[in-house]
Parts: sequence; C-alpha cells; structure tokens
Amino acid sequence: MELSCPYRQHDGLMPIDPCMDYLSIRDAEPVRRDDDLGVWIVTGLRQVTELLRSPALSSAWPERGRTRLHDEQSGTADGMRTADIVRRWFMFNDAPRHQRLRSLIAPLFSANRIADLQPFVEECVDVLLDAVTEQIDMMSELAVPLASRVVCRVIGLPQDVAPRIAVWASDIAALLVADYLPEVVQRGTLALEEIEQVVAAAPASVSVGTALEILRGAHRDGRIEEQDIAATASLLVFAGFDTTSSFVGKAVRALMHSGQWDAVTPERIPTLVEELLRFDTSVQQVARVAVSEVDIEGHRIQPGDLVLLMLGAANRDPEVLANPDVLDAERHNSRHLAFGYGAHYCLGSGLARLEVGAALNGLVRRWSRVELAEPPVLRPHHGVAVMEHLRLNVHS
Ligand code: HEM
Repeated sequence: MELSCPYRQHDGLMPIDPCMDYLSIRDAEPVRRDDDLGVWIVTGLRQVTELLRSPALSSAWPERGRTRLHDEQSGTADGMRTADIVRRWFMFNDAPRHQRLRSLIAPLFSANRIADLQPFVEECVDVLLDAVTEQIDMMSELAVPLASRVVCRVIGLPQDVAPRIAVWASDIAALLVADYLPEVVQRGTLALEEIEQVVAAAPASVSVGTALEILRGAHRDGRIEEQDIAATASLLVFAGFDTTSSFVGKAVRALMHSGQWDAVTPERIPTLVEELLRFDTSVQQVARVAVSEVDIEGHRIQPGDLVLLMLGAANRDPEVLANPDVLDAERHNSRHLAFGYGAHYCLGSGLARLEVGAALNGLVRRWSRVELAEPPVLRPHHGVAVMEHLRLNVHS
C-alpha cells in the first residue's frame, strides 16, 4: 500500500510539521518573498539547485544575515548573534577558508574510510539491538546512541562522551535559529564551551585516524588557529548527530505510515534509503545570504537578503517527479537534494547512508514483523518537530 506525505494527514496522531507549510508554498510559488519574516523562500528543485551553485549567495549567514527578530529582540544593531566559534565552522564560510578547512578533514569521509568504519557501525547496531526483547524505542534505544557513538568515533572523543552529544547538538541547533533569545544563547554557549573542554582533554591515543588527529596536526603546522580545532569538532557534533538520528526515526516512521515495511530487504536498502531521503529528509532547509544581486523567476534578490532553500519541498517538486508526495519503494531517483548540492555538499553523506542502512538492516535481520506500538511522540524545538519516541513492537 502506498500513502501520501504523513504530514498531510490530520488524523490527530501527527502534530503538524513545518513541512506542511513548505508544500503549500511549493504548489503556489517556487520562489517567494515572505515579507513578514523578511526572507526569501525557495521550494522548486530547479531553482534551489541553481541558487545552491550561485556565487552570489554566501554561506556566512550567521555572520552576515539578520532577521527582523534579531533587530526587534536584541535592541541593538549588533546585539546577540551566533557565537564566534560557530562563525569559524567551514559550513558557514565561503571560499577560500571553506575549501581549506573542508579539504583538511574530507579524507576522513572517503569511500575507504567509510568502509573501515563499517564494522564499528554494525557492531554498535548489534550491541544496541541485542538488548531489545519485545519493544524498542527507535530513538532512545537505537538512533540516538548509534549516531552519538559514531560522532565521537569520527571526532576522536572517548565513547563516555557519547551520552552528552544529543543535548549539545540540540542546544547548538537552537542557537542557530533563535540566537535573539538570551536563554538560548546561554545554553548554546555552554554546549560549545563543554565541547571545547572535552576536545582539549581527549587523549591522543583515542584520536588516531580521527578529526582531532588531523586538526591538531594542522594547528601544529600553523595551518589553522587553535580555536579551529574545537570549532570543527562542534561542527561535526551539529552536522553529524541530529541529522542522522532524526533521519533514522523519520525513515522508519515513513515506512510504517505507508505500510511498506515489508519492502525493506537487505538488497533493497540502498535504493530505499535514497527514496526515504527524498521523501522526508532531516535537513528540510539550508540558509544563504545574498552578497550581490540575483535574478530568479522574475524576482530580484538584493545583497543582504536572507534566502531559505527548502530542500525537503524541492525533493517533492511535481515539475520534476511524478507523484512526489508518495513514498515509492520502487522509485530510483538519485537527484534529490537531501545532502545539499555544490561546494557545501554533505561531507558525511556516505557515513549517514552507512548508519541508516545498518540500522534498517539490523531490524529486518532480527525480526520478521515490526509494527508501531503507539503514535510517534514529537516535541517542538524552535519551529522544528523533533521525534522523541518511536516505539515499535518487534516479533521474530
Ligand atoms: C541523514 C543524515 C544527514 C543529512 C540529511 C545531511 C545533510 C546535509 C546538508 C543538506 C548539508 C549542506 C549544508 C549547506 O549547504 O549549507 C550538509 C553539510 C554537511 N554535513 Fe551533512 N547530513 C547528514 C549527515 C552527516 C554526517 C553523519 C556528517 C558527519 C559526521 C555530516 C557532516 C556534514 C558536514 C561537515 C557538512 C558541511 C559541508 C560543507 O559546508 O562543506 N553530515 N549535510
């Protein structure tokens, strides 16, 4: 059985997700100026792709972009804005700094290195699933511990740090969207400080072959500043944890809601994961700030304008795909934007695919029947619905 976008259901079980709003914008105008928010919202696949490769749009939006909320709530022209450490993230920098820092740690994500990580990821899944008897909470018992252990491994942090990753990632994520709120700034800053402390304390023996080994070496050679070590580690916490843990939950939820769990077989997992990424990615949008004028679809984006590129909505563009709001296990479509496009294309895409594939594999290899034990439990987090619990009954 195939079913439409779960967010379109108003059965009282699923809280309304922002994805709903994006889809209605997508249908009306693929490029739209939202005068209330003072931002551009772009939802068409062709238009989002074009803008993601445009040199007129900068990734340094935390430094250069301000919304009305910042002006209204901070009261000063240069009031609270995202911490300096976040501005150092290469994700929020343009060339040449972006390229320099990205290429430093890119070797960690090569196909060979991902293959080396496979036994670790599969062992994590096995250890976590071996503890399950009749019911599993996909989030707290699999997705969250798996993604946090992998992040620690990639960065080079001891595994006893893993249980702290989720809170740090959540507090940093809030900082990125609501740094006009003092309490958000306080928690986000604390998370960044704690990451700095564990990075400084991480023993060299744990960090062999990891991001910390590369970053410490680059600092010793004078290629990066000392603050870039902890900054890049915090970027990996932010970019590598919630993206992947939420996606594991979303993938299972989408398969359950659409009645397609039976389509999950070890051979079909790679294709299915691509369709799941297209259908309901965990990174619904990325932001940019214009540094020069851009004309698109008869609109002129001005320097300084913030632009939201809605990846999730673009992945459902009816101009490009037939039945885009249907999760189709047979669809072979690699043209989705779940991992972005262009210079900032997700560095961890191979690792994310490995983790999600291993999680699905672990479930289907162990249990012949898996069903939702209760509706997923979501909690709002600064405009995004975060899946907190996804309980499944499992039967051999
Ligand atoms: C399903 C899981 C994931 C999704 C949907 C995802 C999505 C994305 C997207 C859309 C971008 C582009 C951001 C932009 O253009 O501004 C990105 C960038 C990035 N991702 Fe991922 N990601 C995932 C998992 C991971 C993992 C596991 C890691 C590493 C541990 C990672 C590391 C990064 C990094 C470092 C960047 C910045 C790349 C750059 O700016 O050059 N991601 N990701």
